[in-house]
Amino acid sequence: MDVIRVEGGHDVTGEVRVEGAKNSALKLMAATIMASGTTTLTNVPNIADVHVMGKVLKNIGAKIEVVNEHELKIDTSGVDSWETPYHLVAQMRASTAVLGPLLSRFGKAVVAMPGGCNIGARKIDMHILGLEALGVEFKVDHGNIYASAPHGLVGDTVTLSFASVGATENLMMASVFARGTTTIDNAAREPEIVDLANMLNEMGAKVSGAGSPVIEVEGVSELHPVTHEVVGDRIEAGTFLAIGALTGSPVTVRGFNPTHLGLVLKKFEQMGASVEREARACTVWRDRPLAPTDIQTLPFPGFPTDMQAQTMCLLALAKGSCVITENVFENRFMFASELSRMGADIVIEGHHAIVHGVEGFSGAQVRSPDLRGGAALVMAGLVADGVTTVSDIHHIDRGYEGFVEKLSSLGARIERTTVADEDDDITM
Ligand code: UD1
Repeated sequence: MDVIRVEGGHDVTGEVRVEGAKNSALKLMAATIMASGTTTLTNVPNIADVHVMGKVLKNIGAKIEVVNEHELKIDTSGVDSWETPYHLVAQMRASTAVLGPLLSRFGKAVVAMPGGCNIGARKIDMHILGLEALGVEFKVDHGNIYASAPHGLVGDTVTLSFASVGATENLMMASVFARGTTTIDNAAREPEIVDLANMLNEMGAKVSGAGSPVIEVEGVSELHPVTHEVVGDRIEAGTFLAIGALTGSPVTVRGFNPTHLGLVLKKFEQMGASVEREARACTVWRDRPLAPTDIQTLPFPGFPTDMQAQTMCLLALAKGSCVITENVFENRFMFASELSRMGADIVIEGHHAIVHGVEGFSGAQVRSPDLRGGAALVMAGLVADGVTTVSDIHHIDRGYEGFVEKLSSLGARIERTTVADEDDDITM
């Protein structure tokens, strides 16, 4: 199995450039379905999730040319299917982002249900309720969601019960060709939503208000292909900046907008780090001890759940105790138990983590529980005593391009290597 092996205690400092945002690129790729022809996306991260979305598009008839690793030319003129099968949705939940675009282009879509659970429990209920308000009818059969708009999509007001990123995006894309005006109330405000709205508008859509809680979409009759640059990845940036706060030596990150990390950087400052913001770059370092501060994750502009694990890694070394409250996802504290194997003192009570700072981490064998938790374990390894080996790193590959290479370029003693599974020698 592939693992990342980190030797702790070496100086990590310097400059890195982040890629385009995973969470934006995936939706922009899905949006190309709505404009027949070749759309060019630049600044696309070369990561596993983008490859899965590529397969989703090819599966319905798109052709994709990869230019220089980070540019995709997506030709959707031959798209002639509206079905996304389970083996692709199972690899990546964000495959459901094609629901809105397929409804826009064909007035129908078949998308496998994520996780095989029922709709209510499996958390695409807001997508479904919102789309129903626009005239979409749903039927669930044999693990698939069959969506169709027999009388066409018609604009209406949809109020989301939670500012869901995925539901906002699907509704925005489904309403582009709807008759009349669609209003999405309590919309998500993430920078990736703004990026998607910008691209839709460049294509000829009439979307206003993206980045605010109320988005209005005035229906148009067609979209045309464009060339669009994916917004810089604020979470990849935040991860490297957290490393500056962790080791203390300055880390500069280029290729993103620091205002997209507003609250995260403020929290780093409260924790004793220094932050220098530029228009498209940011530097973080620290020459004081880490101080505890409470964190609660919330939709943008609140503290991002995608930065929770990396920040927990910092707080686990703070001089004192604090509480981290996870309000966006259940099961996002799995990282804490792995970090405890490295000496952290964290108690989980429901969606609260009580973090008591410890003097240091000790290197250990740990498993990536998920994408951000995996990155945060590698972070912990950078300052741990001895060697840390992180397994299940396919999670990290989903969202970080060249993570090991970038850390290496900052001076980390880190390698990706293959080790035998622990039980390879055991026979029954
Ligand atoms: C996106 C991001 C993810 C990020 C999250 C929150 C992508 C590919 N992923 O995920 O990295 O952590 O936003 O910023 O862009 N929910 C429901 N019903 C729904 C939809 C969502 O109950 O119909 C729940 C979810 O289970 C979750 C919460 O709402 O608990 C937030 O989900 P949402 O904002 O939709 O996240 P995603 O779009 O899945």
